[in-house]
Amino acid sequence: MRAARRTTLTGLALVTAAAGLAALPPDAEAASPAPTLTTAAPDIDVARVQAHLTELNAIASRNGGNRRSTGQGYRDSVAYVKGRLQAAGYTVTEQACTSGCTRGAGPNLIAEWPYGDASKVYMFGAHLDGVSAGPGINDNGSGSATLLEVALKLAETRPSMAARVRFGWWTDEEQGLNGSDFYVRSLTSAQRSAIKAYYNFDMVASPNGGYFINHINSTAAAPMKAYWDSLSLRPEENTEGAGRSDDYSFEAYGIPTSGYAMGASARKTSTQAAKWGGTAGAAYDRCYHSSCDTTTNINATGLNRSADGVAYTLWQQAVSATALNRAPR
Ligand code: TRP
Ligand code: ZN
Repeated sequence: MRAARRTTLTGLALVTAAAGLAALPPDAEAASPAPTLTTAAPDIDVARVQAHLTELNAIASRNGGNRRSTGQGYRDSVAYVKGRLQAAGYTVTEQACTSGCTRGAGPNLIAEWPYGDASKVYMFGAHLDGVSAGPGINDNGSGSATLLEVALKLAETRPSMAARVRFGWWTDEEQGLNGSDFYVRSLTSAQRSAIKAYYNFDMVASPNGGYFINHINSTAAAPMKAYWDSLSLRPEENTEGAGRSDDYSFEAYGIPTSGYAMGASARKTSTQAAKWGGTAGAAYDRCYHSSCDTTTNINATGLNRSADGVAYTLWQQAVSATALNRAPR
Protein backbone atom coordinates (compact mmCIF):
# COMPACT_ATOMS: atom_id res chain seq x y z
CA MET A 1 0.00 0.00 0.00
CA ARG A 2 1.36 3.37 -0.95
CA ALA A 3 2.15 5.60 1.97
CA ALA A 4 1.45 9.32 1.93
CA ARG A 5 4.05 11.72 0.45
CA ARG A 6 5.90 8.85 -1.09
CA THR A 7 6.04 10.24 -4.59
CA THR A 8 7.64 13.48 -3.47
CA LEU A 9 10.29 11.68 -1.48
CA THR A 10 11.11 9.33 -4.33
CA GLY A 11 11.46 12.13 -6.84
CA LEU A 12 13.58 14.28 -4.61
CA ALA A 13 15.71 11.37 -3.57
CA LEU A 14 16.51 10.76 -7.20
CA VAL A 15 17.70 14.33 -7.50
CA THR A 16 19.93 13.97 -4.46
CA ALA A 17 21.21 10.60 -5.64
CA ALA A 18 22.10 12.06 -9.02
CA ALA A 19 23.82 14.99 -7.33
CA GLY A 20 25.74 12.67 -5.06
CA LEU A 21 24.19 14.09 -1.90
CA ALA A 22 23.80 11.79 1.04
CA ALA A 23 20.55 12.96 2.56
CA LEU A 24 17.39 14.82 1.81
CA PRO A 25 17.67 18.57 2.38
CA PRO A 26 15.33 20.06 5.00
CA ASP A 27 13.32 21.84 2.31
CA ALA A 28 12.80 18.60 0.40
CA GLU A 29 9.09 19.21 0.06
CA ALA A 30 9.67 22.55 -1.65
CA ALA A 31 11.82 21.17 -4.45
CA SER A 32 10.31 21.07 -7.92
CA PRO A 33 9.75 19.78 -10.44
CA ALA A 34 10.17 16.13 -9.48
CA PRO A 35 12.07 14.23 -12.16
CA THR A 36 10.55 11.15 -13.68
CA LEU A 37 13.30 8.56 -13.82
CA THR A 38 12.86 4.83 -14.02
CA THR A 39 14.64 4.36 -10.70
CA ALA A 40 11.67 5.42 -8.58
CA ALA A 41 11.36 2.89 -5.79
CA PRO A 42 8.21 0.84 -6.17
CA ASP A 43 5.38 0.67 -3.72
CA ILE A 44 5.21 -2.68 -1.93
CA ASP A 45 1.68 -4.01 -1.68
CA VAL A 46 1.20 -4.85 2.00
CA ALA A 47 -1.62 -7.28 1.11
CA ARG A 48 0.95 -9.40 -0.71
CA VAL A 49 3.24 -9.34 2.32
CA GLN A 50 0.29 -10.41 4.44
CA ALA A 51 -0.46 -13.25 2.02
CA HIS A 52 3.04 -14.61 2.72
CA LEU A 53 2.31 -14.34 6.44
CA THR A 54 -0.89 -16.34 5.98
CA GLU A 55 1.19 -19.07 4.30
CA LEU A 56 3.75 -19.10 7.11
CA ASN A 57 0.98 -19.29 9.70
CA ALA A 58 -0.58 -22.25 7.85
CA ILE A 59 2.81 -23.95 7.70
CA ALA A 60 3.10 -23.67 11.48
CA SER A 61 -0.44 -25.00 11.93
CA ARG A 62 0.39 -28.10 9.88
CA ASN A 63 3.55 -28.71 11.87
CA GLY A 64 2.69 -28.68 15.55
CA GLY A 65 2.13 -24.94 15.75
CA ASN A 66 5.67 -23.65 15.22
CA ARG A 67 8.47 -23.02 12.75
CA ARG A 68 11.42 -23.72 15.05
CA SER A 69 14.71 -24.25 13.23
CA THR A 70 14.91 -28.00 13.89
CA GLY A 71 11.37 -28.80 12.80
CA GLN A 72 9.38 -29.47 9.65
CA GLY A 73 7.69 -26.10 10.07
CA TYR A 74 11.05 -24.46 9.40
CA ARG A 75 11.84 -26.69 6.44
CA ASP A 76 8.44 -25.96 4.93
CA SER A 77 9.06 -22.23 5.45
CA VAL A 78 12.32 -22.56 3.52
CA ALA A 79 10.53 -24.45 0.74
CA TYR A 80 7.84 -21.77 0.50
CA VAL A 81 10.27 -18.84 0.23
CA LYS A 82 12.55 -20.77 -2.11
CA GLY A 83 9.68 -21.76 -4.40
CA ARG A 84 8.41 -18.23 -4.73
CA LEU A 85 11.91 -16.88 -5.46
CA GLN A 86 12.67 -19.56 -8.04
CA ALA A 87 9.37 -18.91 -9.81
CA ALA A 88 10.47 -15.26 -10.11
CA GLY A 89 13.80 -16.23 -11.69
CA TYR A 90 16.18 -16.19 -8.75
CA THR A 91 18.91 -18.74 -8.29
CA VAL A 92 18.50 -19.72 -4.67
CA THR A 93 21.02 -21.49 -2.47
CA GLU A 94 20.31 -23.52 0.63
CA GLN A 95 23.33 -23.31 2.90
CA ALA A 96 23.47 -26.10 5.46
CA CYS A 97 24.67 -24.79 8.79
CA THR A 98 27.42 -27.26 9.60
CA SER A 99 28.85 -25.59 12.67
CA GLY A 100 27.47 -23.59 15.53
CA CYS A 101 23.83 -24.40 14.85
CA THR A 102 21.49 -26.54 16.90
CA ARG A 103 21.64 -30.21 15.85
CA GLY A 104 19.07 -30.79 13.13
CA ALA A 105 18.54 -27.13 12.25
CA GLY A 106 17.48 -26.50 8.65
CA PRO A 107 19.51 -24.38 6.21
CA ASN A 108 19.98 -20.70 5.55
CA LEU A 109 18.46 -19.55 2.27
CA ILE A 110 20.44 -17.12 0.09
CA ALA A 111 19.27 -15.41 -3.11
CA GLU A 112 21.27 -12.93 -5.16
CA TRP A 113 19.94 -10.69 -7.91
CA PRO A 114 22.73 -11.25 -10.45
CA TYR A 115 23.14 -7.74 -11.90
CA GLY A 116 25.24 -4.73 -10.94
CA ASP A 117 28.79 -4.35 -9.66
CA ALA A 118 29.65 -7.54 -7.75
CA SER A 119 32.26 -5.69 -5.70
CA LYS A 120 29.47 -3.69 -4.03
CA VAL A 121 26.96 -5.93 -2.29
CA TYR A 122 23.98 -4.65 -0.31
CA MET A 123 22.55 -7.41 1.79
CA PHE A 124 19.06 -7.67 3.30
CA GLY A 125 18.34 -10.38 5.88
CA ALA A 126 15.72 -11.74 8.23
CA HIS A 127 15.53 -14.84 10.41
CA LEU A 128 13.06 -17.36 9.07
CA ASP A 129 12.94 -19.57 12.16
CA GLY A 130 10.66 -19.07 15.16
CA VAL A 131 10.47 -20.28 18.73
CA SER A 132 8.70 -23.52 19.76
CA ALA A 133 5.87 -21.69 21.54
CA GLY A 134 4.01 -20.37 18.49
CA PRO A 135 3.93 -19.71 14.74
CA GLY A 136 6.29 -16.70 14.87
CA ILE A 137 4.37 -14.36 12.61
CA ASN A 138 5.58 -10.98 13.89
CA ASP A 139 8.82 -12.68 15.08
CA ASN A 140 9.83 -13.13 12.38
CA GLY A 141 7.40 -13.91 9.64
CA SER A 142 7.13 -10.13 9.31
CA GLY A 143 10.76 -9.57 8.30
CA SER A 144 10.85 -12.77 6.22
CA ALA A 145 7.68 -11.94 4.28
CA THR A 146 8.77 -8.33 3.76
CA LEU A 147 12.05 -9.39 2.18
CA LEU A 148 10.35 -12.03 0.05
CA GLU A 149 7.92 -9.49 -1.38
CA VAL A 150 10.66 -6.90 -1.98
CA ALA A 151 12.73 -9.55 -3.77
CA LEU A 152 9.76 -10.49 -5.95
CA LYS A 153 9.13 -6.82 -6.73
CA LEU A 154 12.78 -6.35 -7.75
CA ALA A 155 12.53 -9.30 -10.13
CA GLU A 156 9.26 -7.97 -11.54
CA THR A 157 10.61 -4.44 -12.01
CA ARG A 158 14.05 -5.35 -13.37
CA PRO A 159 15.66 -1.90 -12.97
CA SER A 160 19.19 -1.18 -14.15
CA MET A 161 21.48 -2.11 -11.26
CA ALA A 162 24.48 -0.19 -9.95
CA ALA A 163 25.29 -2.69 -7.19
CA ARG A 164 24.48 -6.25 -6.16
CA VAL A 165 21.58 -7.12 -3.94
CA ARG A 166 21.64 -10.32 -1.90
CA PHE A 167 18.91 -11.61 0.38
CA GLY A 168 19.40 -13.97 3.33
CA TRP A 169 16.80 -15.88 5.36
CA TRP A 170 18.54 -17.18 8.46
CA THR A 171 18.15 -20.39 10.38
CA ASP A 172 18.49 -20.91 14.13
CA GLU A 173 18.45 -17.23 15.14
CA GLU A 174 16.36 -18.01 18.19
CA GLN A 175 19.06 -20.30 19.60
CA GLY A 176 21.78 -17.64 19.34
CA LEU A 177 22.04 -15.91 15.92
CA ASN A 178 23.56 -19.16 14.69
CA GLY A 179 22.61 -19.28 11.00
CA SER A 180 23.77 -15.75 10.24
CA ASP A 181 26.94 -16.26 12.25
CA PHE A 182 27.71 -19.37 10.22
CA TYR A 183 27.06 -17.49 6.97
CA VAL A 184 29.41 -14.62 7.81
CA ARG A 185 32.09 -17.00 9.08
CA SER A 186 31.83 -19.02 5.87
CA LEU A 187 32.72 -16.00 3.69
CA THR A 188 36.28 -15.17 2.67
CA SER A 189 37.61 -11.83 3.89
CA ALA A 190 37.27 -10.51 0.32
CA GLN A 191 33.62 -11.59 0.24
CA ARG A 192 33.04 -9.95 3.62
CA SER A 193 34.57 -6.66 2.53
CA ALA A 194 32.42 -6.64 -0.61
CA ILE A 195 29.34 -6.31 1.61
CA LYS A 196 28.92 -2.54 1.88
CA ALA A 197 25.97 -2.80 4.27
CA TYR A 198 23.76 -5.43 5.85
CA TYR A 199 20.14 -4.54 6.68
CA ASN A 200 18.24 -6.64 9.23
CA PHE A 201 14.47 -6.99 9.61
CA ASP A 202 13.25 -8.64 12.80
CA MET A 203 9.76 -7.86 14.16
CA VAL A 204 8.73 -5.13 11.74
CA ALA A 205 4.98 -5.25 12.49
CA SER A 206 4.61 -5.19 16.28
CA PRO A 207 0.95 -4.43 17.19
CA ASN A 208 1.82 -1.79 19.81
CA GLY A 209 5.11 -1.03 18.12
CA GLY A 210 7.38 1.92 17.61
CA TYR A 211 9.58 2.95 14.72
CA PHE A 212 13.11 1.78 15.53
CA ILE A 213 16.21 1.83 13.38
CA ASN A 214 19.47 0.03 14.12
CA HIS A 215 22.42 2.47 14.27
CA ILE A 216 20.03 5.22 13.28
CA ASN A 217 22.68 7.90 12.74
CA SER A 218 25.04 5.77 10.66
CA THR A 219 25.71 6.19 6.95
CA ALA A 220 24.13 2.81 6.28
CA ALA A 221 20.94 3.86 8.05
CA ALA A 222 20.52 7.10 6.07
CA PRO A 223 18.03 5.81 3.45
CA MET A 224 16.10 3.81 6.07
CA LYS A 225 15.80 6.94 8.21
CA ALA A 226 15.06 9.22 5.24
CA TYR A 227 12.06 7.10 4.32
CA TRP A 228 10.53 7.03 7.80
CA ASP A 229 11.40 10.72 8.28
CA SER A 230 9.46 11.45 5.10
CA LEU A 231 6.39 9.98 6.81
CA SER A 232 7.11 12.17 9.88
CA LEU A 233 7.47 9.05 12.04
CA ARG A 234 10.32 10.39 14.16
CA PRO A 235 12.13 7.03 14.45
CA GLU A 236 14.37 6.19 17.40
CA GLU A 237 17.43 4.02 17.96
CA ASN A 238 16.63 0.30 18.35
CA THR A 239 18.11 -0.01 21.82
CA GLU A 240 15.94 -2.96 22.86
CA GLY A 241 17.10 -5.11 19.96
CA ALA A 242 20.79 -4.12 20.01
CA GLY A 243 22.99 -7.20 19.72
CA ARG A 244 19.95 -9.49 19.79
CA SER A 245 19.41 -10.24 16.12
CA ASP A 246 21.34 -11.26 13.02
CA ASP A 247 22.79 -7.84 12.26
CA TYR A 248 25.10 -8.53 15.19
CA SER A 249 26.72 -11.41 13.24
CA PHE A 250 27.74 -8.93 10.54
CA GLU A 251 28.61 -6.14 12.97
CA ALA A 252 31.01 -8.50 14.72
CA TYR A 253 33.03 -8.62 11.49
CA GLY A 254 33.01 -4.85 10.99
CA ILE A 255 30.35 -4.78 8.28
CA PRO A 256 28.10 -1.67 8.48
CA THR A 257 24.59 -2.64 9.59
CA SER A 258 21.18 -1.11 9.99
CA GLY A 259 17.56 -2.20 9.73
CA TYR A 260 14.05 -1.64 10.97
CA ALA A 261 12.31 -3.07 14.06
CA MET A 262 9.07 -2.27 15.88
CA GLY A 263 9.93 -3.77 19.24
CA ALA A 264 9.46 -6.90 21.36
CA SER A 265 8.64 -7.28 25.08
CA ALA A 266 9.80 -3.84 26.26
CA ARG A 267 7.03 -1.37 27.06
CA LYS A 268 6.04 1.69 25.12
CA THR A 269 6.72 4.92 27.03
CA SER A 270 4.15 7.68 27.36
CA THR A 271 6.32 9.90 25.16
CA GLN A 272 6.34 7.22 22.48
CA ALA A 273 2.58 6.68 22.74
CA ALA A 274 2.09 10.43 22.35
CA LYS A 275 4.03 10.52 19.09
CA TRP A 276 3.16 7.11 17.60
CA GLY A 277 -0.18 6.22 19.17
CA GLY A 278 -0.73 2.87 20.87
CA THR A 279 -0.76 2.00 24.56
CA ALA A 280 1.74 3.49 27.00
CA GLY A 281 3.01 1.04 29.60
CA ALA A 282 2.20 -1.99 27.43
CA ALA A 283 4.67 -4.19 25.54
CA TYR A 284 5.37 -3.37 21.89
CA ASP A 285 4.43 -6.99 21.20
CA ARG A 286 2.49 -8.70 23.99
CA CYS A 287 2.66 -12.00 22.04
CA TYR A 288 6.46 -12.00 21.79
CA HIS A 289 7.67 -15.62 21.80
CA SER A 290 4.22 -16.93 22.63
CA SER A 291 1.40 -18.90 21.02
CA CYS A 292 -0.58 -15.78 20.13
CA ASP A 293 2.08 -14.58 17.65
CA THR A 294 -0.28 -15.36 14.75
CA THR A 295 -1.56 -13.42 11.74
CA THR A 296 -3.71 -11.34 14.10
CA ASN A 297 -0.52 -10.16 15.84
CA ILE A 298 0.40 -7.91 12.92
CA ASN A 299 0.31 -4.13 12.65
CA ALA A 300 -0.51 -3.71 8.95
CA THR A 301 0.29 0.01 8.97
CA GLY A 302 3.74 -0.62 10.43
CA LEU A 303 4.30 -3.56 8.09
CA ASN A 304 3.47 -1.37 5.10
CA ARG A 305 5.78 1.42 6.23
CA SER A 306 8.56 -1.09 6.82
CA ALA A 307 8.16 -2.81 3.47
CA ASP A 308 8.09 0.46 1.54
CA GLY A 309 11.19 1.66 3.40
CA VAL A 310 13.05 -1.54 2.56
CA ALA A 311 12.26 -1.05 -1.13
CA TYR A 312 13.28 2.61 -0.88
CA THR A 313 16.61 1.67 0.71
CA LEU A 314 17.32 -1.07 -1.80
CA TRP A 315 16.62 1.24 -4.72
CA GLN A 316 18.70 4.06 -3.21
CA GLN A 317 21.68 1.82 -2.58
CA ALA A 318 21.72 -0.49 -5.56
CA VAL A 319 19.60 0.77 -8.45
CA SER A 320 21.29 2.96 -11.02
CA ALA A 321 20.18 6.57 -10.65
CA THR A 322 21.04 7.51 -14.21
CA ALA A 323 20.62 4.62 -16.62
CA LEU A 324 17.22 4.39 -18.22
CA ASN A 325 17.80 0.93 -19.63
CA ARG A 326 16.72 -2.21 -17.90
CA ALA A 327 18.60 -5.31 -16.90
CA PRO A 328 18.98 -7.78 -19.77
CA ARG A 329 16.32 -10.38 -20.14
N1 TRP B 1 13.20 -10.76 17.97
C1 TRP B 1 14.48 -11.24 18.32
C2 TRP B 1 14.33 -12.64 18.70
O1 TRP B 1 14.04 -12.99 19.82
C3 TRP B 1 15.32 -10.43 19.23
C4 TRP B 1 14.81 -9.14 19.72
C5 TRP B 1 14.54 -8.85 20.99
C6 TRP B 1 14.49 -7.97 19.00
N2 TRP B 1 14.11 -7.60 21.12
C7 TRP B 1 14.07 -7.03 19.92
C8 TRP B 1 14.54 -7.63 17.65
C9 TRP B 1 13.66 -5.78 19.54
C10 TRP B 1 14.15 -6.38 17.28
C11 TRP B 1 13.71 -5.45 18.23
O2 TRP B 1 14.42 -13.40 17.79
ZN1 ZN C 1 13.29 -12.32 16.08
